[in-house]
Amino acid sequence: MRDFSEKWVQRHNHWPALTIYQPTGPNNMPIFNVQQGSESDGPSPTKTRKHEVRLRITVRRTRFRSSNDEEEDSGLGFWDPSISSEEVFLQVLEMDLGASLGVPSVQELARSLKDVPDRFIRPELELDIVSKDESVPVIDMSKLVGGRDDEEDELAKLHAACRDWGFFQVINHGVAEEGILKMKADVQEFFRLPLQEKMEYARLPDDIQGYSASHVVPRGRKQDWSDFLYIFPQPRDGRNLRFWPRVPSSFKETLNQYSTEMKKLNTALLSFMARNLGLEPEKLLSLFEGGRQGVRTNYYPPCRQANKVLGSSPHSDLAGLTLLTQVNEVQGLQIKRNGKWIPIDPIQDAFIVNVGEMIEIMSNGEYKSIEHRAVVNPEKERLSIATFHNPNSNAVIGPLPDIRGKDGKKQAPKYKSMPYQEYMTERLRQKKKVYDEEGKPENPAHQMKLHTEAA
Ligand code: OGA
Ligand code: NI
Repeated sequence: MRDFSEKWVQRHNHWPALTIYQPTGPNNMPIFNVQQGSESDGPSPTKTRKHEVRLRITVRRTRFRSSNDEEEDSGLGFWDPSISSEEVFLQVLEMDLGASLGVPSVQELARSLKDVPDRFIRPELELDIVSKDESVPVIDMSKLVGGRDDEEDELAKLHAACRDWGFFQVINHGVAEEGILKMKADVQEFFRLPLQEKMEYARLPDDIQGYSASHVVPRGRKQDWSDFLYIFPQPRDGRNLRFWPRVPSSFKETLNQYSTEMKKLNTALLSFMARNLGLEPEKLLSLFEGGRQGVRTNYYPPCRQANKVLGSSPHSDLAGLTLLTQVNEVQGLQIKRNGKWIPIDPIQDAFIVNVGEMIEIMSNGEYKSIEHRAVVNPEKERLSIATFHNPNSNAVIGPLPDIRGKDGKKQAPKYKSMPYQEYMTERLRQKKKVYDEEGKPENPAHQMKLHTEAA
């Protein structure tokens, strides 16, 4: 629990409201103002609920927007004057207004609230089977370069991993340890900053980059127990530095280098996969040349009811390859396999690689994009860095013509082909449709399958 003796909830004499301060911010900027309402807010609730005073809750956006000083009226709340101002703060945190702005962060909630809010609780998780009987394949990349004797064996292993698992860990990948450690350290430092400082990089309504609590959930679905910082570092000329943390001061350079290394590793892996699929590497690589790379750093706070929440709902990654590194020693990633959830036990210095939906489609289903999720820890925070690689905007997303099936023969296309942008629009529409109909977690690339294809 947070130490309330910090006096971060204060009454202002000259301000006819209760102003709630962020405790550790550099200049105590208020995040919420809670002020006593007036008759113009509607009939006084004191008539119906004893002791309650109507409150107008205003979220100051001054710090969050660059120029204008707008304040957003987030509606009315009720406050029983007999409860302490600490409790008012907690109630404000609990109200949807937090979530609707992407603040307060789940990290902040986890720190302040005794109970986990209902919008995170998923009782059905109890029924899931978690199995440690199997573990994802490990690929040694040093065997794939330089014409070693065991090259063919390792290539075959990689092929089988993409085909049967959709996930693997890669070791001896050639990415210098120093750069990875720096990235991990800077990410940890960023999430340790006070909320207000992180909010300087807050996601804006028209962008998916930036710092945010996990996405606000559509009706009937549960919120993920996580915050993230999402940045597109590639292509370089598409960077929006507004979202790049200035603290720690090394962050920019660290991310710059990390991003370049991930791009190289992505290209290397794709070219091995192309060989395995019987393709000219250039045929696959050219689709990703100049494509957008997204780096998503995930922060999963500890949770008192860890077994009833998820850090990341079951999903599969949309793009090409995802390269993931776990920042601290806390595990949480699980993949779906034969109806069970298999935890991934990260090898030190390895990257966890998974095949995204677009590669599933390009490979005509030879490679699989697998559903995965992240669980959280009851005591410790968990952090991860996921790097996604998208095809470029000229790419057509569809089965590549030369793909051969297991039998070595050319296969009829099992998926539709469409331009990248159209694909993205269609996928987002499908996702929304699934949400609106409150269906099960979407079954990713399979929705792009041609209707002729037997299920
Ligand atoms: C993701 C993801 C898992 C993890 O960011 O897409 O699946 O372990 N993350 O954080
Ligand atoms: Ni993912």
